[in-house]
Amino acid sequence: MSQFSVDLEFAQYLADRAQVISLSRFNALDLNVTQKPDLTPVSDADLAVETELRAQIAAHNPDDSVIGEEFGHTSLGERTWIIDPIDGTKNYVRGVPVWATLIALREGGKITVGLVSAPALGRRWWAEIGLGAWVQELGSDSPRRLYVSSVQKIGDASFSFSDQQGWDQSDFEGLRAATWRQRAYGDFWSHVLLAEGAVDVSAEPELALYDYAALLPIVAEAGGEASQFDGTPLPIHDPDIEPSLICSNGSLHQECLKLLKVQT
Ligand code: IPD
Ligand code: CA
Ligand code: CA
Repeated sequence: MSQFSVDLEFAQYLADRAQVISLSRFNALDLNVTQKPDLTPVSDADLAVETELRAQIAAHNPDDSVIGEEFGHTSLGERTWIIDPIDGTKNYVRGVPVWATLIALREGGKITVGLVSAPALGRRWWAEIGLGAWVQELGSDSPRRLYVSSVQKIGDASFSFSDQQGWDQSDFEGLRAATWRQRAYGDFWSHVLLAEGAVDVSAEPELALYDYAALLPIVAEAGGEASQFDGTPLPIHDPDIEPSLICSNGSLHQECLKLLKVQT
């Protein structure tokens, strides 16, 4: 059975607060969408969710700091909540239900709690270091423990990504040609499907800390492996770096890294 620590309980509470806002604005006719300086869209829901989560953290854990996609970060302390209010904003603003609020807690040198809440898909995934990775259907009170797949051969592997933009084409082609099946489930979904054992390799060429922090404990606790394309661990202290991310079921990781090194 999944046991909730105080911090995971709080992360669940934050996700509940987030989904009240995000679900009520999903498909709203008056959703306000603007373009950020990096030319990506942001909606009033992204801003409202992050504002709400920051207010809840300030009220309940005033000594903790926050890194968030929409409002950045100030001084960072020993405990930091890392938030992406809506991962998959391009889906959200077009009415595609694949979007999620991502919540992670960094304590010292580790991400200790990760939670992905996708209310329009009716699912929530979470993990705490040492306590397993779990998924729960909304409305159910019995979470299911997650385990990565046992696929051993790259030729039998299902590979998921977001889109082909931003990839070094030889990296993408290496994974595409070697794997059995390729689907762009996209955003957080590729990686939680990896943790569920439904896909075997998930990758993105460039992500921000708030895009991947919540995913790391979920993948690790499901028995998977996550690294940058060169095999080094994902940085969790510098919010200004934008590393690559490859997750696998562990058995396939070294082979994937070799494929990513092959330059044409
Ligand atoms: C995006 C997702 C996507 C990644 C993009 C991000 P957003 O986040 O994480 O998987 O490929 O680079 O911008 O903007 O929808 O929160
Ligand atoms: Ca994101
Ligand atoms: Ca976002």
